[in-house]
Amino acid sequence: MAASTESRHGMWSSRWLFVLAAAGSAVGLGNIWKFPYITGENGGGAFVLIYLACVAFVGLPIMMAEVLLGREGRQSPINTMRTLAQRYNRNPLWVLIGWMGVLAGFLILSYYVVIAGWALYYVSEMANGAFYQASPETASATFSRFQADPLQMILWQTLFMAATVFIISKGVIKGLERAIRWFMPLLFLLLLLLLGYAFTTESFAEGAQFMFAFNWEDVTSRTVLIAMGQAFFTLSLGMGAIMAYGAYLPASASIGSTVFFIAGLDTLVAVAAGLAIFPIVFANGLEPSQGPGLMFVTLPLAFGQMPLGALFGTLFFVLVSFAAITSAISISEPALAYLVEEYNAKRGRVAISLGVIAWILGIGTVLSFNVWADVHIVGSLTFFDFVDYVSQNVMLPLGGMLISLFAAWGLPRTVIGEQLGIQSGWVNVIWKLLCGVIAPLGVLIVFISTILS
Ligand code: TRP
Repeated sequence: MAASTESRHGMWSSRWLFVLAAAGSAVGLGNIWKFPYITGENGGGAFVLIYLACVAFVGLPIMMAEVLLGREGRQSPINTMRTLAQRYNRNPLWVLIGWMGVLAGFLILSYYVVIAGWALYYVSEMANGAFYQASPETASATFSRFQADPLQMILWQTLFMAATVFIISKGVIKGLERAIRWFMPLLFLLLLLLLGYAFTTESFAEGAQFMFAFNWEDVTSRTVLIAMGQAFFTLSLGMGAIMAYGAYLPASASIGSTVFFIAGLDTLVAVAAGLAIFPIVFANGLEPSQGPGLMFVTLPLAFGQMPLGALFGTLFFVLVSFAAITSAISISEPALAYLVEEYNAKRGRVAISLGVIAWILGIGTVLSFNVWADVHIVGSLTFFDFVDYVSQNVMLPLGGMLISLFAAWGLPRTVIGEQLGIQSGWVNVIWKLLCGVIAPLGVLIVFISTILS
């Protein structure tokens, strides 16, 4: 059977729109909220360097593998894996990659929406001028007060989930493409503005030093595991989101350069966010290791000092919310596409059911910050920590490893050559080396060393 050239869910109107959508998926809370706070918790420079290495040697090949498999299968990840395993006489169990991805997607979506709700809340706080000339104590207290109030958090979680469901029910292609075209550049501009502000504080050098000074003593196997998890998370890898998007990619687009561009953009945004946040942390005597609240305390402080800060601050959190919604959409796409294919269901209905399930799971995350703060699932992990840890540090890397193994060894070399657009023995060798050996081996080594320690 020949590979099909169209997907039933629709197609991106050009390679650039795939780039925008994939970049929209990649750039999100992972870059602006998560990257700085886990960098802070893991000691800074050593973490950043290992993270960059994970993006380059593990993330890039796996992203190419996802796009390639998606475009070859042209369906939801579950059905793509099922079809490809059948077509090329492989073990039918490869379909489990798709199922694990759907499960990981629910877990991630459930807490992603809660945090995105925080960003929405900050839109309203900023617009009210709550942080005008605020002291570090006021900024911290505002955040703590918000976190202590589950009803408030559920309200914003619900709003964000409703917006996500609304957009995914319409189909990704119409509304989203248009929006992303505008707000991605705008988000970049505002990050530059914050970067400029951070530069004027006397702590810029200290912040940059914190992010880039490499210190071997800071490196443990746990640091490496978390850096790798972050590389997967920020590039949206390991659960089939990019595979699902790849299914809608026109056959003519080059996979290599496209993926390179997306990963580069994503990395730039994360590094810019870190460079904007850490100088403000040090200038105000805050702790880099304060955890998930980091961005919500530091950035309002910066905006509070700036001329027109309320305006820029409001705009900034609007853009963060947008960045989060284009990511939330991609997290939902594998499950959504599968249910539509399997039951011939309407996208709208499926979107609502999916949203309700993830919303209910998300309540656990909300409560982890207040009522259940002392309830520990394993060790010292709260419900949120646990869901976050298992999905990001276990399921995504495991899924990514299997995806790259299948893309390297499960497909005939003619298909690989056709997808990559170059039929040469060398391409095949390099592909097998990168996707079939280096990337999966990298993941495996990190796993094993973590288990051993
Ligand atoms: N990459 C997004 C971010 O950085 C989050 C995200 C979107 C994601 N799709 C994903 C994470 C798929 C894991 C898997 O915010």
